[in-house]
Amino acid sequence: MSSSSRSHRLAIFGAGYIGLVAGACFAELGHHVTVRDIQPERIRQLCAGDVPIYEPGLGDMLARNKERLTYTLDADEAVATAEVAYICVDTPPTASGDADLSRVWSVIDSLTHAAHLKAVVVKSTVPVGTGARIRQALDAAGLAHVAYASNPEFTAEGRAIEDFMHPDRIVIGAEDDATVRLVHALHHGICAPLEAMDVASAEMVKMAANALLATKISFTNEIAALCEATGADILRVTRAIGQDHRLGPHFMNAGLGYGGSCFPKDSRALRAIASNTGHPFQLLTAVIEVNELQPRRAVQRLKTELGHLHNQTIAILGMTFKPGTDDMREAPATIIASRLLAEGANVTCWDPMARPHTNQPPWNQTHRRPTIGDALTGADAAIIATEWPDLIHTDWAAHRRLMNGASPVLYDGRNHLDSAVITAAGYTYLATGRSTERPASDRTAQTITL
Ligand code: UDX
Repeated sequence: MSSSSRSHRLAIFGAGYIGLVAGACFAELGHHVTVRDIQPERIRQLCAGDVPIYEPGLGDMLARNKERLTYTLDADEAVATAEVAYICVDTPPTASGDADLSRVWSVIDSLTHAAHLKAVVVKSTVPVGTGARIRQALDAAGLAHVAYASNPEFTAEGRAIEDFMHPDRIVIGAEDDATVRLVHALHHGICAPLEAMDVASAEMVKMAANALLATKISFTNEIAALCEATGADILRVTRAIGQDHRLGPHFMNAGLGYGGSCFPKDSRALRAIASNTGHPFQLLTAVIEVNELQPRRAVQRLKTELGHLHNQTIAILGMTFKPGTDDMREAPATIIASRLLAEGANVTCWDPMARPHTNQPPWNQTHRRPTIGDALTGADAAIIATEWPDLIHTDWAAHRRLMNGASPVLYDGRNHLDSAVITAAGYTYLATGRSTERPASDRTAQTITL
């Protein structure tokens, strides 16, 4: 097969974290890609060579393949010469917890004249059964000859390029082998096992995988709460559990819970699907409840340690839902901030990457501080909500002198720091799933008092 016959023309709908990364990677694999989005500013930025989202390596990859990438607001232009249309738009939750598929349907509506397409492929996370409904809509629009496939994405933000180019597996759900071969051929150059299946199963793989990962996190957080109550140490416990090859070490970091654009939304959507079919998914309900409790539990622990929160100044270090991204969607830090403000505390916050244009409390002029030191100045306590590397390399001893009190509380919500370093620097160190550690001076004082 010549290299040109391996190159296909793709239309990607949605220039967000999934679509833009897929577009860049497909162009890197040699395909000609037109990315379509409905946001004029986003398309203007892309045409000007700017990248509207932060994702390591994305800017370089887009620049490297600019000959094979075009951007447009016009759906007809996007599909004009395309063989395959990829749908990568977002599917936010509705009030009922179901996924809002309006953006998916508006793309499908815009394809009704694209009789030349070979296939429509959905990458957006959609409820099981969506593919069957799209199939009916395509048939009704006279596009029965256009194949349909589900090709779910397992990329994590902050490492999306790496995940796309080196996935654990490629999942393709399609109606026939020819469609599987067509979609698989688009991944030529990627070395990964192919999991080919029917459309409904592929849709379920994505939702079930995210739900299982969320379950692992919430389970670990429950064990962490038990560790705090019993004097066990979650770090030792998870390290030993993770060596069991049947369980593995991943997704067992205890902390403030999972956030982001996928886990919270997808777990709620899967629970809604189960409820809608009359089968309450009790395990998943518990996973969601545990996760929603984590930031509240952290604020309660701070309150217990400080006595009260009213008029106390608390610094929140890290606002994004995880390091390596500028994304604050469903970040535990935002819930902690709101809870602290509701308790009458003053809040300062720092983050090296959270999007500066986000102007929602607390990530606004009133609370935002440019450096870790600025956020800690005058604070009575601090909580680490995102495990940014900057926090490891900072001078904690110097920062303590900027804070109020002799041994201010540092609550490590991600078990990110070395407790010995922090207590040696004079802090009272609270970590998740571990006993509170106090500086030697405090311990001596307590012994003398006793
Ligand atoms: C996730 C999935 O990993 C990815 O496969 C899917 O396509 C989209 O959803 P992402 O949301 O980018 O990716 O982040 P991920 O790195 O998986 O972390 C999700 C959340 O879980 C973060 O808030 C993280 O802090 C939290 N987490 C993760 C834990 O609290 N503990 C862990 O052990 C792992």
